[in-house]
Amino acid sequence: MMTSDKIFSMLLKSGEYVKGEQIAGLLGITRTAVNKHIKKLQSEGIEIDATRRGYKYIPSNTLTRVTLSSKILECGLPPQVIVEVVDSTNTAVKAIISSGDNEGNDILFVAPMQIRGRGRLTRQFESSEGGVYMTLCYNPKSLSVTDSLKIVLLTGLCVARVLSEHVADVTIKWPNDVFIKDKKICGILLESVLNEYMVDKIILGIGVNVSNNIPDNLSSIVTSLAENGVSVNREDIIIKITKLLYKELAEYEISGFKSFLDEYISKSRTIGNIVTVKSGERNITGQAVGLSEEGYLLVNNCGVIEKVIVGDVEV
Ligand code: BTN
Repeated sequence: MMTSDKIFSMLLKSGEYVKGEQIAGLLGITRTAVNKHIKKLQSEGIEIDATRRGYKYIPSNTLTRVTLSSKILECGLPPQVIVEVVDSTNTAVKAIISSGDNEGNDILFVAPMQIRGRGRLTRQFESSEGGVYMTLCYNPKSLSVTDSLKIVLLTGLCVARVLSEHVADVTIKWPNDVFIKDKKICGILLESVLNEYMVDKIILGIGVNVSNNIPDNLSSIVTSLAENGVSVNREDIIIKITKLLYKELAEYEISGFKSFLDEYISKSRTIGNIVTVKSGERNITGQAVGLSEEGYLLVNNCGVIEKVIVGDVEV
């Protein structure tokens, strides 16, 4: 851990003013060095009050590697944290994996904004400043290719749970678009690295509209937390989602999707409703009646139960 990270971690844990000499003593450095590191943290956008009483971290709406990685460490979570503006956090993580630089570690890549955010089915994902754009690279113990869709469903469920702590009326459109009332607030893009029939790495991209501006052409179908009167720290949302994902991915690896099924169905805006699914060249209309073992959507099409593997659902 870098010295400035250690200093930030002390301030975060204390929540109060910490004397320069105390920090210097604990780290075995001079007070001038402490002052230099504090200035570096401040220059990275971290608000630290420096008075005669010492230094105090003032929590603010930052999104920096230092603050986020300290919080991740404090929760006992494993991923290495990177915060950077990039084209797409999923693409950036895939590049790190191909370079072999991450030595098999988990990565949490976060961007304050993305230049070319990517969505499902090769679509673009609007990613202006103010949203949460994160990709978690998770090394599973033993997941097979057939688990992939259920991981996607599980992620939607985790995000929905976190958002429900802040706002009412959160639902999931199969497979994993999270909605507030009738507008989408979060999209998820899973791009796993496979090794024959097994999932070697899960690359889980999550985009949540927090206080980013929603362009006019999307405003009838897309919303943000801010639009719903919720003001929230992006780092808190990232930490909550990451923490929950680690907990529930571990649970999934032991017991599968069974224990999540009832909750997924109760939060689903698809199951139980009449839907039209555009799947390739076909349009399937009927009542969505449930999920198959694999997580496919089951649609009752004039008495015939069809399994929808991939597609766009209209409710
Ligand atoms: C969708 O709605 O179709 C999926 C959107 C996924 C967006 C997230 S934002 C973080 C990660 N990086 C990307 O380029 N896409 C995902």
